[in-house]
Amino acid sequence: MKINLISNKEFNENINYRKSVFSYVFDNENFEYNNKLICNEYIKKIIKKELFYNKLKYKNIILYDINDLKLDNLIIIKCINNLEFDDYEYKILIKKFINILIDTNINECSCLLTLIPVINRDYNWKIRITTKIIKDNIYKFDRFKKDNIKINIKKINLILSDDNDFEYLNNILNEINIITDAINLTKNLSNLPSNICNPLYISEKCKELSLNNRDILYENIDKKKMESLGMNAYLSVSMGSNNPIMSILKYNGCKNNFKNPIVLIGKGITFDTGGISLKNSYNMDEMKFDMCGAASVYGIIYAINKLKLNINVIGILSLSENLIDKKSYRPGDIVKTMSGKTVEIINTDAEGRLILCDSITYSYKFNPSIIIDIATLTGACIISLGNNFSGLISNNDFESNEIIVASNEIDDKVWRLPLIKDNQNQINSNIADIKNLGDGKCGTITAACFLFNFIKKNSIWIHLDIAGTAYDENKKSTGRPVYLLTQFLINKSKNIR
Ligand code: BES
Ligand code: ZN
Ligand code: MN
Repeated sequence: MKINLISNKEFNENINYRKSVFSYVFDNENFEYNNKLICNEYIKKIIKKELFYNKLKYKNIILYDINDLKLDNLIIIKCINNLEFDDYEYKILIKKFINILIDTNINECSCLLTLIPVINRDYNWKIRITTKIIKDNIYKFDRFKKDNIKINIKKINLILSDDNDFEYLNNILNEINIITDAINLTKNLSNLPSNICNPLYISEKCKELSLNNRDILYENIDKKKMESLGMNAYLSVSMGSNNPIMSILKYNGCKNNFKNPIVLIGKGITFDTGGISLKNSYNMDEMKFDMCGAASVYGIIYAINKLKLNINVIGILSLSENLIDKKSYRPGDIVKTMSGKTVEIINTDAEGRLILCDSITYSYKFNPSIIIDIATLTGACIISLGNNFSGLISNNDFESNEIIVASNEIDDKVWRLPLIKDNQNQINSNIADIKNLGDGKCGTITAACFLFNFIKKNSIWIHLDIAGTAYDENKKSTGRPVYLLTQFLINKSKNIR
């Protein structure tokens, strides 16, 4: 499927763009269109009849064979609005558009909806959001179905006002195409069931990524190496499955200097039963998504390599499985982490923080400028922030703001939660240095507090809890926060601050 950017002038002059046209009409009787094609008297008349005497929300009218306009068909979406849209309304409209396109089985169309003004947003934003929504909606995961889902869309022309810099916007389109490819890779990996997608499978994918791209290096830390490094918290979680692998992807985009890398650490529990602190079986199938943090690290490394960003990034995929076995770790166990701190395991279902704490300690070997961990860490995050916002917790205001700036640019939402010393009391243990469970209040903050114990003084740390955003209510991966962090890294590679 190809998306093209076409100027309004070109669209009006060239009848090749008129096969199927999607346009809009506002529900006031004001026919101020941005495009003269739709201002045809005949069409105006029909719109009046169909839309205004028939007060339906989002009524579509489809006109076939409008000969004098050389139009095969025209699909008009009625907008309950006046003149200017906000972000939300625009996104709903584009969703509506792409779903009609899928339903009607049209394979080539021109879309005039991009001409609608959106408050405080430019064409740069509209192109990225439109492309993202189109790609999200035509994405399918049907490799386990006998019959493939057929979507016929071959070409979508987005019509833009003439005064745009088309060279610049085509670069933006290239960029978003790479990012949506990366998002789809993350979705594909995340949607796989755990009987296929285990730590070995993901590590092989990483190896493959490195073999196909010479700027990406790959390294594996296996169980033996973890033992010699003293990564006992990571190893404890892995006792029931015996298959831990920490995969490392190094992207060296800063050719001429050895700038300290940004380290991304992704939680990669390919299935989380809870261990001996067994989960309830209701919706336990969702725990195949407990590797979405790692899958997004994979997608981000793919994206920044294809974008050739001038930046150094190290991706760490902390892969393991939290299973039940006679060898499984137990509540009450005390383990010594790689940092030297001891942890009392109160609940084996709080396993994410245990693999992450050793991964964080390991990451200091790279002298990171920023450590970013990405994890489906707490159910509490879904309770507090729902499915729209990823939880952001950090010890650094500046970088938190940079994340929030990127988030607002590309609509991959985050909300910052506080990190205060007071919460540390919750995880003080009577017999070890800390314990892996708090008193049940503010679980997302407690989990971050636990991780903060492993962050060294003066280092910058960003924690993203994606439990509510990594997959949706249909149990499909969203590919979040690939776009957020790729945009953050794009911005970093441009600023020299
Ligand atoms: N992977 C879960 C968190 C999770 C829950 C992600 C639901 C997505 C949807 C994590 O390992 C976990 O089990 N967390 C526990 C922590 C608790 C035992 C402190 C939780 O949130 O219940
Ligand atoms: Zn988990
Ligand atoms: Mn768990």
